[in-house]
Amino acid sequence: MTKLGLASGALAAAAVAGETPVPAASQDNKLRVLLVNGSPHMEGCTYTALRLAAQELQAAGVEADIFHLGTAPVQDCMACGSCKKHPGRCIWNQDCVNELIDKARSAHGFIFGSPVYFGHPSGRLLSAMDRAFYAAGDVFAGKPAAAVASSRRAGSLATLDAIQKHFTIAQMPVVSSFYWNEVHGFTPTDVMADEEGVSIMRQLGRNMARAVRAYAAEPAAKPVERKYTHFIR
Ligand SMILES: Cc1cc2nc3c(=O)[nH]c(=O)nc-3n(C[C@H](O)[C@H](O)[C@H](O)COP(=O)(O)O)c2cc1C
Repeated sequence: MTKLGLASGALAAAAVAGETPVPAASQDNKLRVLLVNGSPHMEGCTYTALRLAAQELQAAGVEADIFHLGTAPVQDCMACGSCKKHPGRCIWNQDCVNELIDKARSAHGFIFGSPVYFGHPSGRLLSAMDRAFYAAGDVFAGKPAAAVASSRRAGSLATLDAIQKHFTIAQMPVVSSFYWNEVHGFTPTDVMADEEGVSIMRQLGRNMARAVRAYAAEPAAKPVERKYTHFIR
């Protein structure tokens, strides 16, 4: 593996998606995909799945950085509205979310991975995504994204669905593979024995590499004037 960035977010508004063009080229002209590990296990099953996709991205010449949300608590959105006054930043600075936003700025695509907990994504991933997308939707807007779920046995589809909802209200093209983006296992060894899951992750990495190239080359769609209504006015 040439370079598989592994960042630990644990160390550490509503800009509504759609009005910032995808960065056609970063300062160093490299394409980057940020892979977010929403498991408390830094190198568990979710990481193992993400790493497979990351390896394919790197083989295709796209930088892949795995960002671990860590084990420290991740605050849920307080709906304080501070990010509407200061777009691009969450007022709660005591966890990894602003670090995630900073990393997302220079990324051209994303893969968000989660273990399945009672049939849904980890609370830490959902809290981080809610806050990051609410505070800094423009850093995600228009960039290709994929969801990955790791379960011991069941609950992946609802998990993928919950993650993907963030993408589809942020104008993010959803990248897929040839079957559901899921692996099965209780340990990384189990995941590597899930041959179909392994092949799905590898294809996902290749498809994501193609998607970031295509979208980075194309300017964002011209935004229409957006209307906000609460259905009654
Ligand atoms: C609180 C909790 C709830 C879980 N719920 C489910 C579940 O609903 N379905 C399932 O198949 N596995 C469930 N699991 C197992 C994990 O999803 C599974 O082992 C996953 O691959 C672990 O990924 P990780 O090593 O990246 O943390 C649960 C695990 C925990 C800790």
